[in-house]
This record gives sequence, structure tokens and C-alpha cells, in this order.
Amino acid sequence: MAVDPSYQRNGIGSALLKMFCHYIDENALDAFVMSSPAGVRLYSNFGFKAVGVVETKHGNFTSMLRTSGFMGNNGNVCEEGKLMANSHHCYEE
Ligand SMILES: CC(C)(COP(=O)(O)OP(=O)(O)OC[C@H]1O[C@@H](n2cnc3c(N)ncnc32)[C@H](O)[C@@H]1OP(=O)(O)O)[C@@H](O)C(=O)NCCC(=O)NCCS
Repeated sequence: MAVDPSYQRNGIGSALLKMFCHYIDENALDAFVMSSPAGVRLYSNFGFKAVGVVETKHGNFTSMLRTSGFMGNNGNVCEEGKLMANSHHCYEE
């Protein structure tokens, strides 16, 4: 995923990932990404967990996995209409 540098840090990456997560949640799918350092926080906010590091000539990439059963597993509750992304993040359904 990439957002034009002049529009970054305005929530566009989160909005795109929210749509993607909505689809994978509805279909009970697992998701895997190889993230650049810039993307790790974004993916973490939506429940992806770092599971490894891949070293390339372009730098290190973090392997991140989001399993379909992660929602609600941490015991926290989001306000109505929001889905759990991780222990401190909820997002609009
Ligand atoms: C990663 C990227 C897609 C994020 O898009 P964005 O529209 O800026 O993301 P958002 O504004 O929704 O921010 C989402 C989170 O990512 C964090 N973030 C955004 N850009 C970041 C950067 N360059 N470095 C570290 N964290 C970053 C934000 O702080 C935010 O976290 P928070 O809400 O907990 O504070 C964008 O920086 C990008 O296109 N980078 C270049 C390509 C790239 O490295 N893509 C990574 C996927 S492999």
C-alpha cells in the first residue's frame, strides 16, 4: 500500500486498510503482509502481529499476520458499531 507523500498522515492508509479488514472479517479470512518500517504501525492498529523479519537489499521488511479469530480474543470491548483491531484500537464498522 502506498499513499502519495503529500497526503500521508491524514488517515488515508487507515481508511483503505479498514475496507480491507472489513472484507477479511466478513469472510473469516487470515491476512498476511510484508510491511516496510513505515507501515508497521498502520498494520498493527488493525490487528496485524509481527511474526518475522525478511532482510532484503532494500532494507528489512516485517512479516505481519492477522488471523480471522483475533477479534474479541483480548477481552476488551469497543463501543457499539466499532470492531476491535487490537488491545487499544477500535475502528468503525
Ligand atoms: C504506510 C503508509 C501507507 C501510511 O499511509 P497514511 O495515509 O499516511 O496512514 P494514516 O494517516 O492512516 O496513519 C496510520 C498510522 O500509520 C502511522 N504512520 C503513517 N506514516 C508513517 C511513517 N512514515 N512512519 C511510521 N508510521 C507512520 C501513523 O502514525 C498512524 O498511526 P497512529 O494512528 O497510531 O498514529 C504511507 O506512509 C506510505 O505510503 N508509505 C510509503 C509506502 C510504504 O512504506 N508502505 C507500507 C506498506 S508495505
